[in-house]
Parts: sequence; structure tokens; C-alpha cells
Amino acid sequence: MASHGIRDKVAIVGMGCTPFGEHWDKSAEDLLVDAATEAFTTSGIKKEDVDAYWLGTMGQLSGLTLSVPLKIPYKPVTHVENFCATGSESLRQACYAVASGAYDVAMAIGVEKLKDSGYSGLVVSTPASDGTLGNMTAPASFSLLAPAYFNKYGLAADKGKEVLARIAWKNHRNGAKNPKAQFQKEVPMETILNSPKVADPLGIMDCSGVSDGSAAAIVVRAEDAHKFTKNPIFIKALSFVAGPGEGPLAQDYDFTTFREVVASAADAYKQAGVTNPREEISMAEVHDCFTPTELVLYEDLGFSPRGTAWKDVMNGFFDLDGGLPVNPDGGLKSFGHPIGASGLRMMYEMWLQLRGEAGPRQIANPKLGLTHNLGGAPGRCVSFVSIVGK
Ligand code: COA
Repeated sequence: MASHGIRDKVAIVGMGCTPFGEHWDKSAEDLLVDAATEAFTTSGIKKEDVDAYWLGTMGQLSGLTLSVPLKIPYKPVTHVENFCATGSESLRQACYAVASGAYDVAMAIGVEKLKDSGYSGLVVSTPASDGTLGNMTAPASFSLLAPAYFNKYGLAADKGKEVLARIAWKNHRNGAKNPKAQFQKEVPMETILNSPKVADPLGIMDCSGVSDGSAAAIVVRAEDAHKFTKNPIFIKALSFVAGPGEGPLAQDYDFTTFREVVASAADAYKQAGVTNPREEISMAEVHDCFTPTELVLYEDLGFSPRGTAWKDVMNGFFDLDGGLPVNPDGGLKSFGHPIGASGLRMMYEMWLQLRGEAGPRQIANPKLGLTHNLGGAPGRCVSFVSIVGK
């Protein structure tokens, strides 16, 4: 038994991503068609020539959610969902299908339309359980990471708050350079530090927004990739784990790490042959649903030694011009988090960066990119890590 991975067996040859934000004038179906159409255009592949589709979106849905608006009758369309890692899950399934030889061309596509809910924040339905789970909002669950980290590593509350604000400041600064982001403005540190509290110590500006959006990827076997584009990007690793979910019940649960992320990162690094992620990963898109999540992820992904990520934040190591730029597209902070689309939106940035098409956000000569997509809450989550390269 082993996780062998599919290193360099599958390539992405086309991608599409809608602008994220409030799309009052478009349905989820319209967004799916927009993202798919851009992916068809960039790859030169027609929808008829895609052999199978994987659709990531939340709800008790089916392949019809895509087959009807995209007008692809009698194609295999599989609906998948895996909490907030749903978009990444659709990509993972499409890649494995192509790697297996079952299909030549597959599409992964994700969508969510959250702004129509009439609800402030994320609408989630938790599956029925034994009744022992507490009921907390997402900001409240993730806020628990902040004091845990501050206490463990000796940061005074105001210093810790400054570190979190610096993460939001960086992501909004990157998002200001991105025409597809929901929020395209830099936000001053003072504004972030003083934003209205949502779940202490998190203010609005420590939270990702709520938005609508869709993104899509077309994958083929690596040996076929250059038939479709001069600049394909290659899958080096795909790893996914679901945790034991013991966090909310274990008295000694340590909120300074996501064990699921540590496990999926270790698996991904092994698949890709990465031994020193801090040195070898050129850039990363990580699941910054809330600022302390990004802080903890830096350490779980091995970008910073334990207890030191906050120093790397303050010295600009994760900035666009730093040693390891994180969330160069602006992250969930600037894009919001339309669940089924987010994992593919992260991959879209890798696609642009590795092809030298990221405009004012372009990172000099990136070699390996990492995407990290989390679903659930601290202590009760699933984690996805991918590594892609030229
Ligand atoms: N970051 C930056 N700006 C934000 C923002 C955010 N997270 N959320 C809202 N804004 C801005 C809006 O653009 C708006 O600006 P405007 O007045 O200039 O138009 C203003 O703040 C108020 O927006 P509104 O939609 O009324 O905010 P809200 O109170 O409904 O929502 C939160 C704010 C923080 C509650 C909401 O964004 C949220 O719940 N975020 C977390 C989502 C989440 O749980 N994700 C799960 C990840 S696991």
C-alpha cells in the first residue's frame, strides 16, 4: 500500500476563471459556461472533444448541473464535493482519470454562487452526527488558532494582531494587482487592525470575503500536452487526506497545527521529490480563509520552522517579491471563497505564473508551485495539496 502519485504523467493545457465577486446578473450556470469557454479557448479544445467532466459544487446535485448549461449531452459528468476543497477534488479526479488511460481529455470545473443566499457569511450544512459537535461559525472556529499560536510562541496579543494584519495587508496588496479579484484595493494596516470584530481577535479584514465565481481546467496525458499548447503545466503531486475529526472533542487538541495539512504536505512532497519546501517551492496559493489559518499553514507546509512563521511574515518573506511568495493572486482574502471554484482558482494562478502570464504579479522564473485547499474547521477537516511545475 502506498501513495505513488502521478508525477509528470498529466498536464493542464487550458484554464479559465471568471472574475470573482457579486454576479447579480449571472446564474451559476452562466459562470460555469464562462469559465469553461475560457478553458476551451486557451487549449483550442472543443467541448465535444472533452471525454469526461468533473464538476465541483456544493449541494445534493448531479452532472446535470453542468451538462445542461454547457450543452454536452451524453458525456460522463461526475458531481463531486469535499467541503471547501471541492474544486481541488474535481481536479484530482480528472487527473487520475486521464492518468489511468480511461480518457484522453478531461475537464475539472467548479462553481459557487454565494451572494444570492441573503446571508452574511458562509452557508454550510453540517452532516448529521452524534450530537456532540459544537455549533460555531467559521470565523469563530478559526479564531481559536490565534491565541493558541500567540501563547505557544510568546507573542503579546497586540503583536500577534499585527502579524495577522500583515498577512491580510499582503494579500490585499496582491489582489490590487488582479483584475479578477473581488476586492482590488490595497488596504492600509490601520484599517485592517481596526476593522470591526467578527470573532475576537479577528476583524472583518481578517476574514475572506463571500463571493460568486467559477474556474475550470482541461487535463491531458503529459505526452499529448504540446499538441494543445506551447506552455503546458505538469502535475507533480496531488495529495488529499481526511482527518479523524477529533479536534472539537479532544481536551488537549493543539490549535497551532492542522495535522491533516502536515500529512497531505508530506505525501505531496514525497510524490514530487521535494525535500526542502522552503527552498524548492517557488510560490504557493494557500487556503487563507482567515489570517491565522495562513499563519499556521506556513509552518504546516514546511515553509517556516515551527514558531518562526510570524517573523517571516513581518520580514516580507511571503510577499510578492519575497523568498517564497504566498497567495500572489490575492488569495481567498481578495477573491472570497465560492467553494467549488476556489481550488481551481488557486491553480489558475499557478497556470498564469508558470506560463509567465501573471502581468504585474509575475514572479521571476517560478519552477514549482504549490496549492493548498482546506475544508472544514480546525480539528475537523480535510486537506488537499498539489504541486505543479513546468
Ligand atoms: N474582506 C474585505 N472586505 C470585506 C470583507 C472581507 N472579508 N467582507 C466584506 N467586505 C467589505 C464589503 O465589500 C463591503 O464594502 P463596501 O461597504 O465598500 O461595499 C463592506 O465590507 C461590508 O460588506 P458586507 O457584505 O455587509 O459584509 P458582511 O458583514 O456581510 O460580511 C463577513 C463580512 C466577515 C461576515 C463575511 O465576509 C464573512 O463571513 N467572511 C467569512 C467567510 C467564511 O466563513 N468563509 C469560510 C472559509 S472556511
